[in-house]
Amino acid sequence: MINIAILGFGTVGSGVYAVLQKNAGLIARRAGQEIRVKRVLVLEVTENPELFTSSIDDILNDPEITMAAEAIGGVKAAYPYVKALLASGRSVVTSNKELVATHGAELLALAKEKGVAFLFEASVGGGMPLITPMCQSLLANQVEEVYGIVNGTTNYMLTRMSRENMDFAAALREAQQLGYAETKDPSDDVDGPDACRKIAILASLAFGKQVHTQNIPTRGIRGLEPFDLRAAARLGCAVKLIAWARQTETGPAVGVEPMLVPLENQLAGVEDVFNGVLVRGDMVGNVFFYGRGAGKLPTASAIAADLVLAAQQGAAVHNSIFWEPSPALPAPLTSGEPATYYV
Ligand code: HSE
Repeated sequence: MINIAILGFGTVGSGVYAVLQKNAGLIARRAGQEIRVKRVLVLEVTENPELFTSSIDDILNDPEITMAAEAIGGVKAAYPYVKALLASGRSVVTSNKELVATHGAELLALAKEKGVAFLFEASVGGGMPLITPMCQSLLANQVEEVYGIVNGTTNYMLTRMSRENMDFAAALREAQQLGYAETKDPSDDVDGPDACRKIAILASLAFGKQVHTQNIPTRGIRGLEPFDLRAAARLGCAVKLIAWARQTETGPAVGVEPMLVPLENQLAGVEDVFNGVLVRGDMVGNVFFYGRGAGKLPTASAIAADLVLAAQQGAAVHNSIFWEPSPALPAPLTSGEPATYYV
C-alpha cells in the first residue's frame, strides 16, 4: 500500500480524493498496490483530525507518506511545500501551472537528483491528456510546433458571444455564475496569464529549455465584442484565444493572442469549456488532442493517473520529461507574424 497526502482540498484536491475512492479497485490493480490518502493539508481543520491537518510538518514527518498530490495552487505555499517534499525523497504530482511554469526546471532537477517523480499532466488541459503523450508516444519526434486552446473559461465566453451575440460583460457574468471564471478577479483567464503559463510549460517541454512567462507576449480576450466575432464569421473564421509555440530559424517563438481560425481547422470546432491542442512532430506530423480542459473530476483523474505512473515507475518517468533551466531573456519572444492562424 502507498500512503499519500493531498495538499489543498478545494475543487481539485477534493476531486482527487473522490477519484481515488471511486476507482480504488482499478487504480490499485494498475498501480500494483492500493493508494490510500493518509493526510489532507487544509488551512483550517474543522473535521476528522486523523485525516485533515493544517501543518505540512505532519506530512513531512510521517515516514509512511511517500507521495503527495499538490492542489493548493499559486506558488506562495505550494513552492516551498513541494520543494520540501521532493527534497525528502517523496514523489509529487500537481495540477499547479503557475508552480510548473515558474519553477519546473528546478523541481524536475531536484526530483531527478532524489530519484523520485515530479509529474504535472493536469497542469495543462485539465483532463485532456497532453503532457504524458508528448513525453511518451511522441518521444521519438522533435516537436516543431504546439498550438491550441488551453483556457476553457475564455473559450466558453467566446462560444457564448458568437452563438448568442452576447457581449463580453454578459459572457463573463455567465462564466462567473457557472464557476468557470473567478468572481473577484477574472483577469488570470480573460487577460491571458493562465494560457501564458500553460504554453510556457508546453514550450519548455517541447524545446527542452525553460521558457519564461515574462518572455511570452500575451493578450487576452478583453475588448472583443460580438461584432468582431460576426466579422470573423463572414471571413469563414472563428475567433479563438490561441496559445502557440514554434521553432523558427531564429529560435523559439511563443505567444498568446486571440486569432482568426479558419473554420476548416479542428480548433474552430473546439467549443464551450473544452480545450484542443495540435502538436506537430517532425516524424508524425499533426496530432490533435481534445477534451475537458477544466473541472473537478476531469482534472482530478489526470492527477490520479500521475500518482499511478509515479507508483509504477518512480524516477524512471523522467527519462523523457525534463527541461533545462535557462535565464529569462531581456526582451519578449516575439512572433512578428500576423494575428491570423493558417494551418
Ligand atoms: N481557469 C482554467 C481554465 C482552469 O479556464 O482553463 C483550468 O486550468
